[in-house]
Amino acid sequence: MPTLFALSEGIRKCTSCPLYKGSTLAVPGEGPQNAKLMILGEAPGEEEDRQGLPFVGRSGKYLESLLKTAGINRKEVFITNAVKHRPSGNRTPKASEIKICAELWLDKQIGVIKPRLIILLGSVALRSMKIQGTVEKLHGKIIKKNGQNYFITFHPSAAMRFPQTRKKMESDFKRLEKEIKTIYTK
Ligand code: URA
Repeated sequence: MPTLFALSEGIRKCTSCPLYKGSTLAVPGEGPQNAKLMILGEAPGEEEDRQGLPFVGRSGKYLESLLKTAGINRKEVFITNAVKHRPSGNRTPKASEIKICAELWLDKQIGVIKPRLIILLGSVALRSMKIQGTVEKLHGKIIKKNGQNYFITFHPSAAMRFPQTRKKMESDFKRLEKEIKTIYTK
C-alpha cells in the first residue's frame, strides 16, 4: 500500500485524463492519514485550484459551519474530491474522468485511510463510489457497500443556492452527529 504522501505526489503529476490541462494546481486532499471520517466532494473550484487545497472557497466555509453543528472538527477529517483537477469553467466532471480518478487515486486514498465513514456530497461523489440512486432519495442515510459506510447528503453549493436543499442538508448534518456516535462505537 502506498503512503498518503506518495499518492498526493502522484496526483500532482497526473496526466491520465484531460482535466490537468486547464487547471493550475492539483488538489489531492487534506487531513490526517488516520482520519475516522472522510468527506468526498465533486471537484476543485476556482479558489481550490489556486491554493491546491480542498474546500477553501465559499462552499468550504459553509461546509465547515455544517461540520460544527454536527460536533465535527474539520482538522480531524480527510477532505477530498471525486476528481483532483478543476474542470474548466466548473463544468461537471465526465463519467470517464470520475472513473479514471477513482481507480487511480481515490480508491487508493480510501484504502490507506480506511475511514469508518465517508460523507458523500452530491451526485458526482455518489457516482464515483458507484452507488446507484439519487441524492434526493438517499440523503440523510447511512449506506453500507462492500463493507464501507457512507453518509449521503447534498453538495454545499446546491444548498447555498436553493433554500429547500439547505434545510434538508442542515437536518442531515444534525442527524449525522448521532449516526457517527453509533458507527464509532461499533
Ligand atoms: N466544491 C467541491 O466539490 N470541492 C471543493 O473542493 C470545492 C468546491
